Amino acid sequence: MKITGKEYKTIWFKNNVVKIIDQTKLPHQFIIKDLKTVKDAINAIKKMEVRGAPLIGATAAYGIVLSIIEKNDQTFLHKSARDLIDTRPTAINLKWAVDRMIKKLTGVNSNKILEMAINEAKEICEEDIKFCESIGLNGLKIIEEIYNKKKDTVNILTHCNAGWLATINWGTATSPIYHAHKKGIPVHVWADETRPRNQGANLTSYELNEEGVKNTIIADNTGGILMQRGQVDMCIVGTDRTLSNGDVCNKVGTYLKALAAKDNNVPFYVALPSSTIDWKIKNSKDIPIEERNSDELSKIEGVDEDGKLIKVQIYPNKSKAMNLAFDVTPAKYITGLITEKGICEASEKGLKNLFK
Ligand code: MRU
Repeated sequence: MKITGKEYKTIWFKNNVVKIIDQTKLPHQFIIKDLKTVKDAINAIKKMEVRGAPLIGATAAYGIVLSIIEKNDQTFLHKSARDLIDTRPTAINLKWAVDRMIKKLTGVNSNKILEMAINEAKEICEEDIKFCESIGLNGLKIIEEIYNKKKDTVNILTHCNAGWLATINWGTATSPIYHAHKKGIPVHVWADETRPRNQGANLTSYELNEEGVKNTIIADNTGGILMQRGQVDMCIVGTDRTLSNGDVCNKVGTYLKALAAKDNNVPFYVALPSSTIDWKIKNSKDIPIEERNSDELSKIEGVDEDGKLIKVQIYPNKSKAMNLAFDVTPAKYITGLITEKGICEASEKGLKNLFK
C-alpha cells in the first residue's frame, strides 16, 4: 500500500539485509531500518518497531534467515528459533512462522540451507499477502450488502491496527475496507485510538489517510455511544490468536467493543489469516496474555512545537499502573470470522468447515 504516493511493503529482504519500516516513529517520522543479525530481529519485535501478528511472524522468519547468515550451524539455528519465539507471547503467528522455518530447515545440508531459508521466508510473506487480499474480497461482500441497503456511507469501527502495517500488505481488518474504497463504495472508519500505544491513531488512521480513506480517531471509550446513536454499521477487528472454538484474542479493549456491539445489534466481525488459528489451546484462559511495561501507560510520546519527538510523563509519579496488552472476546459475541477461505461462524464447526 502507499505512503506519500509510493508503494511499500512492511518488510523486504535485499543484499542479505532485512528492511523494515520503524513503526515506533510513525506517524511523525518515516524511517526504514536495517536488520542485519538475529538479535536485530529480536529487538525489532520486542521494541515493537514491527508489530501486528502476521508481521511479527514474517520478521521472525527473516530472523531465522539472519541467524543462518551470521552462523550456519544447527545449534545456533535452534537457539535463535527459541529466542525469537520468546519475544512476544500472545500472537500465535510468531511460533507458527518459526516452527514452519525450522521444519523446513532441520537437517538440511549447510550449503543449501540459506537459499532454502530465504525462499521460505519470502513464501511466508507472499502467502500472507495473498491471504489478506482474499480476506478483503470476502469481507467486501458484507460492506457491499450494507451499502446496498443503506445507500449511504458505511461506517466501520476498528480497534488497534490490523491494517497493512500489521501484515505485509492489505491488512486483515482493513483489507475489506480498502477493497470497498477501491470499488467506489463510500466508507468511513472510526479508528479507536487504542491506548496505551495508540496503534489506532498512529498507525490505522495514518495508513487510511495515505490511501485516501475517510476516517476519524475516537477515544477508546467512544465506540459505545456511537453504536447507541446508530453511527456504526459494523465493526471489523483483527486477531492475534483465534481458538478453534471461535474465541478471539486481540488488542485489549476489543472485548468491550464486542459487548457494546452485541447490545446495539451492530455486526461484529473478526478478520484473520489461517496463520492466527491456534488448533491446540482449547480454553481461552490458557492463552498467554502479554503484560507490558507500565511506562507505556504513564509516559506518552509525540512531537513538540518544533517537530521534535519527545516523551512526557502523564501519571502521578507515585501511582502504580498495569498494562495488559490483549483480551479475549468469546465467540458468542462475534458475528462471523472473515478468512482467506471465506466467512464462517465463530465456532469449531464454522472453522473446521473452512479448514478441514
Ligand atoms: O501489540 P500489537 O500492536 O502487535 O497488536 C496488534 C493487534 O492486536 C492486531 O489487531 C492483531 O495483531 C491483528 S494484525 C492483522
